[in-house]
Amino acid sequence: MLLLSRLLAASTVIASAYASPVSNIYNVHEKRESLPEGWSKRELLDRRALIPLRFALAQNNLDKGAEWLDDVSHPSSEKFGKHWSAKEVAEAFAPSGETIDAVREWLHSAGISSERVKLSQGMNWLEVHASVDEAENLLKTEYNVYEHGETGQPHVACEEYSVPAHLQKHIDFVYPTVHFDAKLKARSEDFEKKKRVISPGTDKSVGLPGSGSLPKIPTGSLPKNPFGFNWFQNLKDCDKFITPDCLRALYLFPKGISANPRNSFGIVEYTPQAYVPSDLDMFFKNFSKSQIGERPILNSIDGGVVQQTNMSFDFNGESDLDLEYAMTLVHPQKVTLYQVGDLVEGASFNDFLDGIDASYCTYDGGDDPNQDATYPDPYGTAPLAYEGPKNCGGFSATKVISTSYGYNEHDLTPFYENRQCHEYMKLGLMGVSVVYSSGDYGVAGNQGQCINGTGADAPYTPVKGTFGRFNPAFPSTCPYVTSVGATQVINGTFIPDAIISRTEPEMACETVIYSGGGFSNVFPIPNYQKSAVKSWFKNYPPPYGADRFNNSQMTRGYPDISANGANYVVAVDGTFSLVFGTSASAPTFGSILTLINEARYDLGKSSIGFINPVAYAHPYIWNDVTQGGNQGCGTAGFSSSPGWDPVTGLGTPNFPKLLALYLSLP
Ligand SMILES: *[C@@H]1O[C@H](CO)[C@@H](O)[C@H](O)[C@H]1NC(C)=O
Ligand SMILES: *[C@@H]1O[C@H](CO)[C@@H](O)[C@H](O)[C@H]1NC(C)=O
Ligand SMILES: *[C@@H]1O[C@H](CO)[C@@H](O)[C@H](O)[C@H]1NC(C)=O
Ligand SMILES: *[C@@H]1O[C@H](CO)[C@@H](O)[C@H](O)[C@H]1NC(C)=O
Ligand SMILES: *[C@@H]1O[C@H](CO)[C@@H](O)[C@H](O)[C@H]1NC(C)=O
Repeated sequence: MLLLSRLLAASTVIASAYASPVSNIYNVHEKRESLPEGWSKRELLDRRALIPLRFALAQNNLDKGAEWLDDVSHPSSEKFGKHWSAKEVAEAFAPSGETIDAVREWLHSAGISSERVKLSQGMNWLEVHASVDEAENLLKTEYNVYEHGETGQPHVACEEYSVPAHLQKHIDFVYPTVHFDAKLKARSEDFEKKKRVISPGTDKSVGLPGSGSLPKIPTGSLPKNPFGFNWFQNLKDCDKFITPDCLRALYLFPKGISANPRNSFGIVEYTPQAYVPSDLDMFFKNFSKSQIGERPILNSIDGGVVQQTNMSFDFNGESDLDLEYAMTLVHPQKVTLYQVGDLVEGASFNDFLDGIDASYCTYDGGDDPNQDATYPDPYGTAPLAYEGPKNCGGFSATKVISTSYGYNEHDLTPFYENRQCHEYMKLGLMGVSVVYSSGDYGVAGNQGQCINGTGADAPYTPVKGTFGRFNPAFPSTCPYVTSVGATQVINGTFIPDAIISRTEPEMACETVIYSGGGFSNVFPIPNYQKSAVKSWFKNYPPPYGADRFNNSQMTRGYPDISANGANYVVAVDGTFSLVFGTSASAPTFGSILTLINEARYDLGKSSIGFINPVAYAHPYIWNDVTQGGNQGCGTAGFSSSPGWDPVTGLGTPNFPKLLALYLSLP
């Protein structure tokens, strides 16, 4: 039998020899140095077991993605605006026929008949139920049963495995092998407890109250409702209170007048964050009367609900802020609310991306059950838990999507981040502008934490760390999103005067929050940013070295641009509050992009899509912000300076210039 399969293998080898070189040399494909915390080896796996082996096939052409995106996004490209359909994107990156055949041949040569091998619908997995002997032979490994100390949960795994050298480029990884990301079936009260403790790396749901990326209200003496006068009728107090009219004056954009049915501004919220309908009306009553009663279009992903059980700033601040401003600024355009996750598990960015792109559900092995919510929800029952099937591609993506939540890059693995980042690249190819807030703690991470040491395993400093390495934000460091930092109006500035005298009315935000900014430890610097980053290092060299941040000039710098993030007047839980954060900057910026899309649609042009190549190629379309810094980790952080800087990026939008440029592009 063994001999026969060897012979068969030899003949298939000859048949495909010129397709790709075949070798009998096995290389270790994945190896783990130590077991993850809590797990120990129990026993050898019962020989009678069948292992559901799954081979994740490598995506084709990922290395070309950046170039393809540049083709449709760079202002000097002939293909500018010629975005791809979802089908074209899926086909371009699907594993190649060569990849599928090569892995099939290997399985066949090892004596696994082809009827037993199944190709997944997304064409990115090969699946086979193998006996323990077959699996161990195939992967040159030994399977064991491991046990989790706390829960007693068993898990089948090995500590390293090999594949033939010529297949390494075709196989991303094999399941089950060295991965210990089987979701722990904890008792639900344990899960509840775990959910409430916010600690970096373990908070799976980005919508948890108290999460560092949510907007801030000043603590201390400021009265909750300081507005006893009709200040909103003029612009003289925009340094103290930001209203929709202040933003229009700062960035010179008009009220919307038309509503192309293809155009809608997408806002993403993560349960239990929720808007309060009466808050929207309270805001509209003062700032946009004709919108009283208007609500966003609700796209509920994975049981997403606009809950009204828990009501406080921590539950309603983000959604009220995002929707009150987005809906007012793009009116009469419609805002689409993607509400993601149920009341038990919440959700992650991956869960949202699955909801707008079915292919992402299975791409590169699918989600990580350690980070992403699993549906149907295994942790509870309806009505709190969503018992329906996971949403895969049930909703289409709006052409601008703004998210005001974020992780520290250090919380997640580079594999996880790269996978998600590829998806933003694909959305860009489809003409979607993906906007993320850059964080509220300057060079530090959420809650002001910094990184104590180098490397992926370095621990965090305590909250509000006064030492350690800077802690960049993800997805802001993904080169395919547009990261938005925060500014504030300089004290005592009357905006019309500033416009007339051509002085910049804003500085980096230094009130309550500091604009997130810095350099990635994971992502290389994208082409569109190279010369801007180089000039900044040359002209304004920062007073810190490699002990604080990656100063190699070879990694992605952020934010890309900025917008006001201080003193927003927001109706929350029946009262007007002053709200701070890049959480405010992102929807304001997204609104402006949506107005530009509207103008392009009117002329029969495409959406603007991924804006960074245009943004950096034409820095004059931004108001350069040159004052203020983004302190953190016991330092003054970086300083805002002429040109791009890792505090306010290229600056704030100058709508007339953006519009003129984008209308001149094909
Ligand atoms: C809202 O409008 C009322 C009535 O005009 C006014 O008294 C109040 O000051 C306004 N509040 C804000 C925050 O503009
Ligand atoms: C939310 O409300 C529910 C129902 O009143 C309560 O059991 C739960 O503790 C609240 N959650 C938080 C985080 O306050
Ligand atoms: C930070 O790292 C240093 C050096 O490894 C160590 O001595 C110190 O205890 C760490 N501090 C914290 C708060 O982790
Ligand atoms: C601006 O004024 C506010 C309130 O008057 C004050 O708290 C803040 O520190 C001032 N900011 C700057 C940058 O001067
Ligand atoms: C900075 O990034 C570069 C490029 O990825 C890498 O080679 C280098 O090791 C990094 N430096 C530090 C100090 O992390």
